Amino acid sequence: MSINSEKIRELVEKRAEARLGGGEKRIEKQHAQGKFTARERINMLCDEGSFEEYDMFVTHRTKSFGLDKQQYYSDGVVTGRGTVDGRVIFVFAQDFTVFGGSLSETFANKICKIMDQAMKVGAPVIGLNDSGGARIQEGVRSLAGYAEIFQRNIMASGVIPQISGIFGPCAGGAVYSPALTDFILMTEDTSYMFVTGPKVVQSVTGEVITTEDLGGARVHSTKSGVSHFVAQNDEEGIMLIRKMLSYMPSNNLEEPPVLECDDAIDRLEDSLNEIIPDNPNQPYDVLDVIHAIADYGEFLEVQRNFAKNICIGFARFNGRPVGIVANQPKFLAGVLDIQSSIKAARFVRFCDAFNIPIVTLVDVPGFLPGSGQEYGGIITHGAKLLFAYGEATVPKITITLRKSYGGAHDVMSCKQLRGDLNYAWPTAEIAVMGAKGAVEVLEGRNIRGIEDKTERAKFIQEKEDEYSTKFANPYLAAKYGFIDDIIEPRNTRFRIIRALEGLSTKKELNPPKKHSNMPL
Ligand code: HXC
Repeated sequence: MSINSEKIRELVEKRAEARLGGGEKRIEKQHAQGKFTARERINMLCDEGSFEEYDMFVTHRTKSFGLDKQQYYSDGVVTGRGTVDGRVIFVFAQDFTVFGGSLSETFANKICKIMDQAMKVGAPVIGLNDSGGARIQEGVRSLAGYAEIFQRNIMASGVIPQISGIFGPCAGGAVYSPALTDFILMTEDTSYMFVTGPKVVQSVTGEVITTEDLGGARVHSTKSGVSHFVAQNDEEGIMLIRKMLSYMPSNNLEEPPVLECDDAIDRLEDSLNEIIPDNPNQPYDVLDVIHAIADYGEFLEVQRNFAKNICIGFARFNGRPVGIVANQPKFLAGVLDIQSSIKAARFVRFCDAFNIPIVTLVDVPGFLPGSGQEYGGIITHGAKLLFAYGEATVPKITITLRKSYGGAHDVMSCKQLRGDLNYAWPTAEIAVMGAKGAVEVLEGRNIRGIEDKTERAKFIQEKEDEYSTKFANPYLAAKYGFIDDIIEPRNTRFRIIRALEGLSTKKELNPPKKHSNMPL
């Protein structure tokens, strides 16, 4: 064998060794838990044959705790560049088979290297997390490694999309890199995230709680809102990440990708003419509206099970991606509260950062009243959504389906918050408050003056009807130009598509500043 072929054989062998990570046994253990390995996950994520690995031969530099005798190529994280639907992405996947995917200094350097390159070329970074946290043997060097990553997460925020998949443990300060990214996806049963684990919780507070109940996918997708998506398993999770990417541009200087669309732009949806119930207190499902108007009825809902009184997510109109924000009358009558305000505000900011137009569907009775909300800071949190809408410079199209009352009317992308096109269905009720509340305030003295119960009820009904006829409609707002047009519900899809086309060249700049001081 020539020296050359000997050297090539050596390379092939080393590559094969690297690809085995922590070895067959640990890979088997990973599979037995229903999990894939780091490289398997990357292969699922990237277009076939597109992945190019960086730093395969990196090993750690720690000598203490006998680590000098334990060296694994790639050092517990697989990093590199590939494509998704033909577009470049950068990816790192933590390899649990090597030191439990724990983060060393060299591990962090590898992640930083691809993040730096992603920023230079303007491509998304996808992080696939499965790690026991800081590599204990490396001590403070590991903490420094995390901070290097955090700093890059922060600099990349709003410049390139960052998506985190959590496919195993993610604990301690390690949670903060995913938390700094745009979207977090967790897998059911196999992933968890918490700042302090069950053992520490018990020793500090006495609370006994399982890993799943403290930081499983169910908890973070329903209670905390930390997780934006939940998948049944690794495969489903990775396909969801590919799908998310299809709605986003590669960076903040690009437009989101427009797809070919066979769904007729002027498709009339007769069901929408009937969807608003006669009784204003009766709910309907705003998802039915979204499915009826979006291309092929497709809607990628974000945080589906958290703050269900508002729906957010991605859809397309004639192939153009949009972010949809819609009050959901099915839950809490679609009221705005602390959680729904925060949920929608962050989504509006994501869309604005990445040039994704926002379509807002309004049916909001107001803000949720009560001491719970006031003590929780609804003033500050409601202001987040108001701020996010007012700051956003992407095309903003608002359709008022039914109620649009009070402060919530202003918040939900009204004309004066630079809504570009504000439409209303004929069923819209745009007013300071609903008829019941208004009559109680305006006619309180007269109502109290009527002794007879039946007479009193009749008077209230008359006044409420009078108020509704006068105010619970879209025509007053349209008269003042606050609503650009009143449209037939079944024609909504066409009107949105035409609006998006008309606004596709929109340029609006906010005044120069270091950054805003939004009410956090
Ligand atoms: C070094 C680690 C490790 C770590 C796991 N391993 N975590 N090595 N540093 N943090 C190693 C184990 O020694 C083991 O090696 C292998 O990875 C697999 O671990 P197991 O314990 O056998 O796996 P499992 O039973 O599935 O348990 C997984 C686990 C557990 C729950 C994650 O390993 C664990 O509790 N690890 C410690 C977690 C932790 O406290 N990390 C520090 C958090 S603080 P062998 O050779 O046997 O295969 C933190 C701060 C970050 O991260 C701060 C950022 C600012």
